[in-house]
Amino acid sequence: MALKSETYTIRSSDDVVRVRQIARAWASEIKLSLVDQTKLVTATSELARNTLEHGGGGAMTAEMVENGIRRGIKLTFTDQGPGIANLELALQDGYTTGNGMGLGLSGSKRLVNEFDIKSEPGLGTTVTIVRWK
Ligand SMILES: Nc1ncnc2c1ncn2[C@@H]1O[C@H](COP(=O)(O)OP(=O)(O)O)[C@@H](O)[C@H]1O
Ligand SMILES: [Mg+2]
Repeated sequence: MALKSETYTIRSSDDVVRVRQIARAWASEIKLSLVDQTKLVTATSELARNTLEHGGGGAMTAEMVENGIRRGIKLTFTDQGPGIANLELALQDGYTTGNGMGLGLSGSKRLVNEFDIKSEPGLGTTVTIVRWK
């Protein structure tokens, strides 16, 4: 069970900035190191931007979680956009269907302790990440 949980909508660039700030604040609250805070914030930025730009908008749920004595921040990004037909391809460095760098998904995965992506063409995409203290 989560120690706390909040959901934020992602419909604009301002919302992306806002969820970045939430990630920073929650990471600081569990006393992640500054380096780990920045890793989580960078992943949040990339995934929130994907939710907005590729998913057509959606939401981020932030949870403060506990695993024995360890605390962590779990972030779930969801949208009801077009989904991703080939996840393996989407996770490759440099793969983009837009004009991005194609490093959002692959880079985010490297910046966190847990990374899970589920997507169904036509139904949407859910990406869940966890950074443990
Ligand atoms: N939420 C999403 N909904 C639909 N497609 C997505 C989503 N997130 C990522 N993708 C697909 O995966 C590709 C790779 O994403 P990413 O690594 O962030 O690169 P970029 O955003 O620079 O294109 C995107 O170009 C897009 O085709
Ligand atoms: Mg991206």
